Amino acid sequence: MSGVQKPVIRTIGDGDYDDVCRLNNADSCPLSKNDPRHPYNAAARIIEESHDPQSQGRGWFAVAGGEVAGIITTENFGGGIIVDPKFRGQGIAGHLIRAREEFLRAQGQTTTQVHILAGNTASIHAFTKAGYAFDKKSADVIAAHGGDRAQVPQNTVLVMERSLETPKPDSPRQSVHKSAPAAPKTP
Ligand SMILES: CC(C)(COP(=O)(O)OP(=O)(O)OC[C@H]1O[C@@H](n2cnc3c(N)ncnc32)[C@H](O)[C@@H]1OP(=O)(O)O)[C@@H](O)C(=O)NCCC(=O)NCCS
Repeated sequence: MSGVQKPVIRTIGDGDYDDVCRLNNADSCPLSKNDPRHPYNAAARIIEESHDPQSQGRGWFAVAGGEVAGIITTENFGGGIIVDPKFRGQGIAGHLIRAREEFLRAQGQTTTQVHILAGNTASIHAFTKAGYAFDKKSADVIAAHGGDRAQVPQNTVLVMERSLETPKPDSPRQSVHKSAPAAPKTP
């Protein structure tokens, strides 16, 4: 989209409680701050683990125009991605998705998966743009509904996945039909 600046992606750290809670709609959260389910506790855990190099848990913010515009976390914090409504539709999700992938790749992970409700079109579009595809089981569910995701009950959890392996620059593109004979060369 033209006129949209690339957001800055940074790891969540000290002092980020309020923004984590705001992005999780904490204002309407009826839980006490002492309740382990309260977003403040989730934020505290994310911040604590982000300081621990051994930890597999991380969270990232996208900052656009000096404002915290979005969040993504690793799977152990729910793996959620949320972009502030006023920043949606600018491709910010893609930058957050890449930040998490880079971390997972550095951890040695070779694939990643996300769980998305069938009715969450914005999320499915964002992950599709980022190169994710439905896993076999989810693709079968969609196929069983005439190949139309809109026909799948909206609260069905679908799985999208993506390889984290980087293709080697000099190696030829992987062929789906590995055993197929090489095509004859044409002059
Ligand atoms: C899903 C979400 C993170 C996508 O973030 P984003 O930065 O807006 O993503 P993109 O800019 O790549 O847009 C993704 C899709 O959102 C839709 N979209 C575009 N502009 C929009 C707007 N102003 N408001 C809402 N949705 C919009 C479009 O369908 C777009 O897909 P398209 O590019 O194929 O048209 C965001 O919509 C969100 O926070 N949703 C609520 C939380 C949520 O559902 N999280 C995912 C849980 S799995």
